[in-house]
Amino acid sequence: MTKQWQVSDQREGAAVDLEGQVAVITGGSRGLGLEVARAFAARGARLVLAARGHEALDAAARELAAATEVEALAVDVAEDAERVVEAAIRRFGRVDVLVNNASELGPSPMPPLAEYPWRDLERVLRVNVLAPLHLTQLVLPGMRARRSGVVINVSSDAGVEAYAGWGGYGASKAALEHLSRTLGAELEGTGVRVYVVDPGDMDTEMHRLAEPGVDLSHLPGPEESAPAFVWLVERETAPFGRVQAQALLESRARGAQG
Ligand SMILES: NC(=O)c1ccc[n+]([C@@H]2O[C@H](COP(=O)([O-])OP(=O)(O)OC[C@H]3O[C@@H](n4cnc5c(N)ncnc54)[C@H](OP(=O)(O)O)[C@@H]3O)[C@@H](O)[C@H]2O)c1
Repeated sequence: MTKQWQVSDQREGAAVDLEGQVAVITGGSRGLGLEVARAFAARGARLVLAARGHEALDAAARELAAATEVEALAVDVAEDAERVVEAAIRRFGRVDVLVNNASELGPSPMPPLAEYPWRDLERVLRVNVLAPLHLTQLVLPGMRARRSGVVINVSSDAGVEAYAGWGGYGASKAALEHLSRTLGAELEGTGVRVYVVDPGDMDTEMHRLAEPGVDLSHLPGPEESAPAFVWLVERETAPFGRVQAQALLESRARGAQG
């Protein structure tokens, strides 16, 4: 079982050039999702972006349309997963890469579990666990039929380590990681690859919500983690892996120098 936990030397899948590939990126309107969209667009991928707020989404779509074909959907992924995949199929005929990046932090400031409003936790689990699984279920038939596809689920160190106050969000990421591991086991040999990415601490709106009033300007921006997503699609061939974006990029840079 442990062989599935890290990106390994196992070579079963087929890494693919992003040129012409169709990528669905949830939460593609700002933060990490927008940076992954920019990085994928630079490699020639066609994009389907989903986020709730029109303004940021439209701005992202306008910018990216200068580089590639973009379909933008103002949806809540917890409510409208079908619309996202239907729009992708209608416009592009298929989904090759699914990046489950959109995420819900829960109440801010973050309450300890003993006082966590369970309705809020229900919402966190719907957005962070159930929506990614639902979207995966919707894209898998096409990926399996083509014997090719990549699902990347964005997690956090809070899904592995126990930090006081981060229990609701952390439990959702732990559940997402376990779903991913199980999917990796179930999809072995199908040509569909599943990866979990911990992007590391970044200076984004979500992080500022998690630590209100704390200056996070010393943290890296999400553009520093986004190249790891390109690398996983284009270069990795292991059927499953969990990676820390910065560690992956540093080890690749060292490998390139060595
Ligand atoms: N920032 C960090 O330090 C950090 C660390 C570890 C892991 N992560 C993970 O990295 C990922 C990206 O986070 P970020 O920091 O880039 O967050 P962000 O800047 O707040 O961006 C979140 C994106 O998701 C969208 N979104 C949120 N809820 C949604 C929903 N229900 N339906 C559709 N779209 C939704 C947002 O747009 P709307 O609000 O308009 O919908 C936005 O586009 C998340 O999975 C997060 O857990 C972040």
